[in-house]
Amino acid sequence: MLRTPFRFLTTALLAGMMLNAPAHAAKTYQVATDAAYAPFESLNEKKEAVGFDMDIMKAVAAKAGLQIKFVNTPWEGIFASLNNGDRDIVISAVTITPERKQSMDFSEPYFEAKQLIAVGQSSKATKLADLKGKKIGVQTGTTGDEVAQKLLGKTSPNIKRFESTPLAIQELQSGGVDAVIADNGVVVNYVSNNAKAKLKTIDDATFAKEYYGIVVKKGNKALLEQINKGLAAIKADGTYDKIYKQYFGK
Ligand code: ARG
Repeated sequence: MLRTPFRFLTTALLAGMMLNAPAHAAKTYQVATDAAYAPFESLNEKKEAVGFDMDIMKAVAAKAGLQIKFVNTPWEGIFASLNNGDRDIVISAVTITPERKQSMDFSEPYFEAKQLIAVGQSSKATKLADLKGKKIGVQTGTTGDEVAQKLLGKTSPNIKRFESTPLAIQELQSGGVDAVIADNGVVVNYVSNNAKAKLKTIDDATFAKEYYGIVVKKGNKALLEQINKGLAAIKADGTYDKIYKQYFGK
């Protein structure tokens, strides 16, 4: 007896709630990436960001129910774009470092990397210390820049800083610098895809392991939690491994 009116009431209530529901679409999160860092991020012919990071971020977003849009953003200023609200997320092969952790929040690590040196094939250098007194090209403010600073000193005129890693490597090819220090994945990718550049790589025993993380504005706990949940989910269900294999083989 009570059932019918009760049911009617519930239905009416639900309908009312739906009518009152906000009409605006779900937020689209702006994802910054410096898309000059293949195979992690680069621009395709249509000027869309593509690469390992994009595939990871898309998979994470799908699991977390986030709507995202990639926005090519210069490395210099990429972290500032979180603070001024222009971007919500950065995925850009960003190494988690203690200094950066003070001013931004990182997801759980999603990739292990380290530095690698690129030199011309005729170079006699076999280790980092051999680059003392040589000109080293780096992308400004990267962990490669940090390694060069440790070797040559922060203000050394022999550290040549570029706004992108490809620009530093071009300078190496044209002889303006003697070496480039950058992330291993990017250096290997460039050297093996540009045989004509006649470059080789040097690994150094002192290079420490680095881990990439997805970055949000300091204190944005809710978003970070969603990202971490998504990351955990793609690691658990094999999606991560599938993407990893696609780019890096086994
Ligand atoms: N992993 C290095 C760092 O965090 C370099 C990252 C550069 N990324 C890029 N998309 N340009 O300092």
